[in-house]
Order: sequence, then C-alpha cells, then structure tokens
Amino acid sequence: MINFKELIINKLHDNIPELEIEEIERLVETPPSYDMGDYAFPVFQLAKIFRKAPPMIATELAEKLQDSEYFEKVEALGAYVNFFVNKNTYADTVLTDVLEKGYDYGKSDLGANRRVIVEYSSPNIAKPFHIGHIRTTVIGNSIKKIYDYLGYDTIAINHLGDYGTQFGMLITAMKHWGDEEVVRQDPIRELLKLYVKINEEMEEDPTLREETREWFKKLEDKDPEAVRLWNFFREESIKEFERVYELLDIEFDSYAGEAFYSDYMDDVINEIEDKGLTVESQGAEIVDLEEYGMPPLIVKKSDGTTIYATRDLTAAIYRKNKYDFYKNIYVVGNQQKLHFQQFFKVLELMGHEWAKDCVHVEFGTVSTEDGALSTRKGNVLFLEDVLMKAKDGILEILNNREREIENKDKLAEQIGIGAVIFQELFNDRIKDYVFDWDKTLSFEGDTGPYVQYTHARIHSLLEKGAFNPADSVDFALLSSEEELDILRLIYNFQSVVIDAHEKYQPYFVTRHIVELAKAFNKYYNTTSILVDDEEVKKARLALSYGAKVVIHNGLGLLGMVAPERM
Ligand code: ARG
Repeated sequence: MINFKELIINKLHDNIPELEIEEIERLVETPPSYDMGDYAFPVFQLAKIFRKAPPMIATELAEKLQDSEYFEKVEALGAYVNFFVNKNTYADTVLTDVLEKGYDYGKSDLGANRRVIVEYSSPNIAKPFHIGHIRTTVIGNSIKKIYDYLGYDTIAINHLGDYGTQFGMLITAMKHWGDEEVVRQDPIRELLKLYVKINEEMEEDPTLREETREWFKKLEDKDPEAVRLWNFFREESIKEFERVYELLDIEFDSYAGEAFYSDYMDDVINEIEDKGLTVESQGAEIVDLEEYGMPPLIVKKSDGTTIYATRDLTAAIYRKNKYDFYKNIYVVGNQQKLHFQQFFKVLELMGHEWAKDCVHVEFGTVSTEDGALSTRKGNVLFLEDVLMKAKDGILEILNNREREIENKDKLAEQIGIGAVIFQELFNDRIKDYVFDWDKTLSFEGDTGPYVQYTHARIHSLLEKGAFNPADSVDFALLSSEEELDILRLIYNFQSVVIDAHEKYQPYFVTRHIVELAKAFNKYYNTTSILVDDEEVKKARLALSYGAKVVIHNGLGLLGMVAPERM
C-alpha cells in the first residue's frame, strides 16, 4: 500500500534539506477537516530559514510540490501546504491491499523478534471475581491482541494473587468456622463469608490477628496443612475464574502468581542487601526512597514475612531472565500507581537497566449505580453474573424478533458479552466510569451491538451481491464523498492500531470502528450498492468488503466476535 504520508515527508525533505527528516515527520499533520486536504504541512518554522512570510513560503512550496499521480491538489492555505490525495490512486492502493490480504489486512511485522509480556486480570484467589476486575481483564486482553497483530511475540500472564497475609486469615477462619464440605459446594461465596467473618471477629479479638499471622508464617514455611488448604483455595478459585475467561474467550500463557515467586524471593532479597540498598526500620527491612519523593519500599516485614512488593520485584527479575522481554506491561488500576513507581525505581537502583522497559498501564475505576463493589463488606457484583445478564438481555431482544434466528443462544452470548467489552473499551482507560446497562445493550449509537450489526449487514450484502475478492475492479468508479470517507477509514486503520499500541489505548480502535460503521451505514442509506451496472456494483462491493474486513479485525482486537448474521 502506498504510504502517502511518507511520500510527502520525503518530497518535503528534498525541497527543504535544512529541516531534519524527523522534524518534518513531526510537523506533517491531518487537517481538522478533509475539505482542507488529507495531510497538511505548517511552514511557520521555515520563516527564519527563508526570511520570508509564512504564506509566501507556503505558496512557493505548493508550487514546487505539484504531483498529479499521488496528489490531485497541493495548495497553500495561509501558512499551510495542504495535500489532497488522488482519489483513484487512493481507492486502488487501499482496496488492492485489502483484496489481496483479506483478514490479514492491517497486520504488521513491526514487533518481529520482540517479546512483550502483558500481565493482566490477576484476581486474588478465594475472593470473588467481580465487576471491578473487568477493566484489567478486558483492557489487558485487547492490548495483548493489538501487540500480536503488530507482530510482537506476546506472553499473557495472570499474576494470580495467591499469596499474602489474607491466606493466614482464611486458614484461621476455616479452622474456626469452616466446613470443607460446605465450602466445596460453593467455594467462592463460602470463602467470602468466612473472609467477612474473620474481618469482623478480628476487630473484637486481637489474639485472632496473631493466629492469622502464625498461619501465614506457616504457609511461607511450607507447613503441610497450610499448603493443603491454600491449594484447595487456589484450585477452586481458578475453576471459577476460568468459567469467566471462557465466556470472554481469554487464555493465558501462564498462571504464575505471587506464590510462584516465593521460592525465588530469597535470592532477590540477598541481591538487594548485597547492593547495600536496604536499611533497618522498626525491625523491618526497607529501601529508602525519600530522595525520589516516595515512601520506602518494604522488602521484609518485622516478623520476617515478605510482602506484595517483594514478590513483584522477584517476578520482574524472573521474567527478564526467562523471557528476555522487550517490554513488560502491567495492566493494573491506578490505585497501585505508587506501588509500581516504587518497585520500578528499586529495580533501577539494583542496576537493572531494563527497569525502563517495565510499564504500568493504569486505568480508572468502574462503579455501579448502587456502588456494589467492596469485598470486605461482602457486597459484590460477580463478573460472571454481569456477563450472563448481558447475554439474557440480548436473548430477550432476539426472542422478540419476527424472523427465525439460528444459534440464538450463542449469538446472544456474542452480542451481550461483546456489548460489555465494547462499553469497557470505549473511553480513555484512565477515566472512571459508571457501568450502565441500558447504554451497553442498545443497538443504537456507539455500542458493540451497533458495530456488530453493521458487520452482519455488510456480510449479507456481499452474499447477496455474490462478491468475489478475485474479481477485477475499476477503482476509478469510487469517488463520492461517502466512498472517500470509508476509504480513509480503511486506509488509516493500521496507523490507528500502531497508535493504540504505543499509548496502550484500545479505545482508539473502538472509536475508529464505530466511525467506520457510521460511515458505512450512511453510504448504505444514500447509495444503492447492488445496482444493475456490473462494474459499479463490483466496485461498491469491493469497498464494502474493505469496510467489513476492518470492522471484523477491529472487533477482534477488542476481544469481540464479529457475527455474520444478527
Ligand atoms: N492481585 C492484585 C489485585 O487484585 C493485582 C495484581 C497486579 N499485578 C502485579 N504484578 N502486582 O489487586
């Protein structure tokens, strides 16, 4: 596919050798509206070099840059040179590429030979997998898919919270009030009850707190009874999580959670000590980070037990040794921002230059209208229930349809769950949001069902028109404004995906495919596609196919299915 932007950059560089190519690259932009061209180059910077007024420079440059093959118009507007891509060349280059590549369109080998770890989801065992986990799970999955698409070798890691003092609490609660048989029946809900109870009882009875500490210490020392119970919690929890992952069609390459690293922790603690980074503070071992404006990172607590941060340090070093990553990405909420800053800093102080390749991809909170989120009070909205409710909502809509629908159940699942994913990935991840049922499940507006529906509509159109990707097409027949809008969105898809990967922002992709769906529906409503003129029909179908491929691939990058019938 012709890279118009690169063509422009090179031509500009030929004409203005005074400016570095990187500088020109930074300056070339997309104008605010397409009547001002597809690309624009502001010349303010050149006023000093040429000692002329910017509009005059723009006029002279535009003169020199005329090139009818690629640009039908190069014109000066104020201090800008605006470039209008030649429509025929455009349609030809974009659609030839799509027809040739099919669903591989937009992929790249940008990340070849680079391994990227994406750590996401990472729920805590023996705790509910609730609506709050949707963010890391869905954002992380999408980031992984985006990196895959660009040719990186990705490793999906679920850093299970399967270690820590709360297991001392759970074991203690199990011993006092738990009945293993009862727990086995409905593990997570029963364990949650026990967790709530121990939290309440500990308030009253301080000796219980001591007991929980002892059990945790035993777990660290691999006491068989402690390990047995811990294993039981872990296995039951993973079973529950996997039901949700299956609904979301998510798979992990590794479930190496916090406990996994406990065996490697001593070496890391020794390394930190040997490098002289620790000091003693009230019996605990800490790395003082005051110089960097941060509170200290505790490596070892006064009772000799380790904490979350120590396990993260260990995990990062382990991953570097095992995977030799290019990037190590953590998709975790912004409440943990400081934690990541601290342990990245400690890695750096330890002399690991790759600390700079560790990235905390943070996001804001999700809440529900009634505020049901907190585990400590036992007031939770399970993620599985949310997904099933979304499915049921869609099933009800489908049941009210006149026409018979095949595989209604599966379809309702794809649309319902897709709707939840889409809503999740619609905004900048850093924003907080309130989960809204009505908006999520609507078939109108900026929703998953709307985009999926557009995909299905194009699919049936292509079937009706007996579209064949091998047909030769006269691209010059595509020149209306509506057609050009669609072509642009198809053409720009890859650069949007590249931006999304650089900024870890799946919503760039979401917005792009919503826009494409809207552009297509506008086209569909204003233009007959299945016309008698065979040549025109073929050209319009090829364009529709391009839109379908991009919507299909875009949905895939979000972790959604693109149904062919809806
Ligand atoms: N289990 C943690 C929680 O639920 C998230 C883990 C994040 N990952 C990490 N490497 N610390 O809050």
